[in-house]
Amino acid sequence: MGRSLHQQFFDQQAHIWKAMDRRDQIRRLVELFSRALPSPGKRVLDVGCGTGILLDVFCQMDQAPEIVVELDISREMLCAGRSRGPLPNTLVWSVQADTHRLPFPEAYFSGIICFSAFPHFSNQRAVLEEFYRVLGPEGLVMILHLDHHREINRMHASIGGVVRGDRLPPVTEVGQWLMNIGFMVLRAREQRGLYLIVALK
Ligand SMILES: C[S@@+](CC[C@H](N)C(=O)[O-])C[C@H]1O[C@@H](n2cnc3c(N)ncnc32)[C@H](O)[C@@H]1O
Repeated sequence: MGRSLHQQFFDQQAHIWKAMDRRDQIRRLVELFSRALPSPGKRVLDVGCGTGILLDVFCQMDQAPEIVVELDISREMLCAGRSRGPLPNTLVWSVQADTHRLPFPEAYFSGIICFSAFPHFSNQRAVLEEFYRVLGPEGLVMILHLDHHREINRMHASIGGVVRGDRLPPVTEVGQWLMNIGFMVLRAREQRGLYLIVALK
C-alpha cells in the first residue's frame, strides 16, 4: 500500500523536526508531567510520537514509565528519533502504524499520551475508540498541546497543503466524544499556551 499524503508530508518534515530547538517545550512538558498531571502508569503509548520529544521529557522525570511504545505513521520521524541514546530506566519500542488501527491487544496500556498529533487524525472519534480498546481498566488518556485550539488551527491553516484542514476541536467537544465512548473526563482545560484533556477508562 502506498504512503498516504500525511505520511509523505511528515516523512518530509522529519529532518526539520529533528533539528528544531525544543528545549522550551521540553521544560514546559517536564513541569506539566511532574506537577500537574496524573502518572500515565508503567506501560505508555506515545501516539504520533514524531522524533520522540516525550522521551526527552521522561528521562528528566523522577518516575518514568517502565515501557514506552513510540508509535507513528511516519517511518522517517521514527528513524530521526533513533539517534537518542537509551533511557536509563525505560524500555522503548518503536512501532510504525496508523493510530486508527493500533496493532495491540485489548487492555495493553496503562496510559496513552497524544501530544501535538490529534488534529492530524482523519477520524478522531474512531481513534478515541481505539484508545479505549487498548487501555486497561483505569487507564488514562491525555491529549495535550502547548496552545489553545484556535491557535493550533490557525497555524495549520497558515502552513497549508495537506495539514491545512487538520482541526483540533475545542476541549468540550473532544470531552463529549470521550464520555460517549465510556471514558470519565477528569480534566478538560484550555487557555493561552495550553490544551489539556485527561480521561479515565
Ligand atoms: C505535529 S507532529 C508531532 C510529533 C510529536 N508528538 C512531537 O510533538 O514532536 C504529528 C505526528 O503525528 C504523526 N501522525 C499523523 N497521522 C498519524 C496517524 N494516523 N497515525 C500515527 N501517527 C500519525 C505524524 O507522522 C507526526 O509525526
